[in-house]
Amino acid sequence: MSNKSNNFRTPIGTRDLLPPDSARWQALLDAFAAKAAMAGFGLISTPTFEDVGVFSRVGEGTDVVRKEMYEFADKSDRRMALRPEGTAPVCRAFVQHRPPVPWKVWYHGPYFRYEAPQAGRYRQFHQIGAEVLGSADPDVDVEVISLAWSVLRAVGLERVLLLVNSMGDAETRVEYGRAVRDHLQANLADIDEDDRDKVDHHPLRVLDSKRPGTRAVTAEGPRLADYLSPEAVRHFERVQDGLGALGIPFAIEPRLVRGLDYYTHTTFEFTSSALDAAQNTVCGGGRYDGLVEELGGPPTPGIGFGMGIERLLLACDAEEQFPTPTTDPAVWVVDVADGRSARDLTHELRQAGVAADRSFDGRSMRSQMRNADRSGAQLALIVGEQELQQGQVAVRRLRNDESGQLMIARSEVVSEVRRLLEADS
Ligand code: HAM
Repeated sequence: MSNKSNNFRTPIGTRDLLPPDSARWQALLDAFAAKAAMAGFGLISTPTFEDVGVFSRVGEGTDVVRKEMYEFADKSDRRMALRPEGTAPVCRAFVQHRPPVPWKVWYHGPYFRYEAPQAGRYRQFHQIGAEVLGSADPDVDVEVISLAWSVLRAVGLERVLLLVNSMGDAETRVEYGRAVRDHLQANLADIDEDDRDKVDHHPLRVLDSKRPGTRAVTAEGPRLADYLSPEAVRHFERVQDGLGALGIPFAIEPRLVRGLDYYTHTTFEFTSSALDAAQNTVCGGGRYDGLVEELGGPPTPGIGFGMGIERLLLACDAEEQFPTPTTDPAVWVVDVADGRSARDLTHELRQAGVAADRSFDGRSMRSQMRNADRSGAQLALIVGEQELQQGQVAVRRLRNDESGQLMIARSEVVSEVRRLLEADS
């Protein structure tokens, strides 16, 4: 049906990102990029849609794939999905390109899940993530967690808690899952009704239920730690040792099984106590030693994490950290002659690395000066007929009313402006 009023809005669960908020977003990406480069991670970009099969292993029993995936048939009737997460596409790319290992990559972009939108939960959300493929060394787990931690610290978050757990290897997961299911089935009457449908097929998902009845049952249930192989225990101990050595505080959370099926060994989450409990995970990740093989590659261990950009920034808001950086121009060019000077001067200044802006449409002096004041610029360069004839430009310091106006030579504008900006900084 056509919308006659053309009153189109963003689809439910999506948001526009506008200036100046976008500058903060960009600063977060820059902060992440700097930390990632420091640790030897290269940027990867994969398509926003993939063959739906790429995500089946994420897996088929999870809400993410079963209920929330945006699936569609393209015009050639191929089954496609908008990516709900970033790890499976990275593994698909690994299998396709076979880069040398360890392969350390980071990524950012939009992800899509058909969820009930609320603060901190969207249908199109954005993640920054990192993955390392090709090493089972527990020190890689430490390196990956440390990268996430360093980014959270770089943006100033203090109220974040790192929770870690070990899922053991794939067999442990199956064996433990069976034991949990038996326990849950034996206590079905005490489990909250909304959790019961998961008991048979996804018993581990019941563990992170926050419903009190369910929680009382799971608290009495089998403990994952009792099912870990000696090798898995050694791996987990070495991870804890590494976190300790790097001064990264953490707590062991035996209920942490995470919402995706591919995890083995280390799983972790960073939660923010500054956010509402329902959406307080700002970063989640873990090992997935079988995923590459599932996607047709050689046995290849992997570990990584994804951070929700929106949630991370909400946590920053709540802690009053990571303010929006200013994007004010240094210079505003006011041209009350024919506009050519504004055109040429902004160009020259920008070429020289000085942020410069101007008004358009032949506005009055008053209107242009108002724009200059509002822009946050330090200097206004003013050109009228008289200045034009004399080969001069008038300069006004916008943040210092008393200093009046001075004249500089048109031919010296760049160097004079630089000198004045430096003197004021
Ligand atoms: P995930 O836990 O599903 O893991 O998502 C990671 C983070 O993305 C969450 O902690 C949260 O901050 C954010 N997030 C998830 N869904 C939404 C949503 N609907 N709205 C806003 N933010 C959301 C993964 O996606 C895994 N690929 C992480 C990973 C990487 N594991 C290993 N490597």
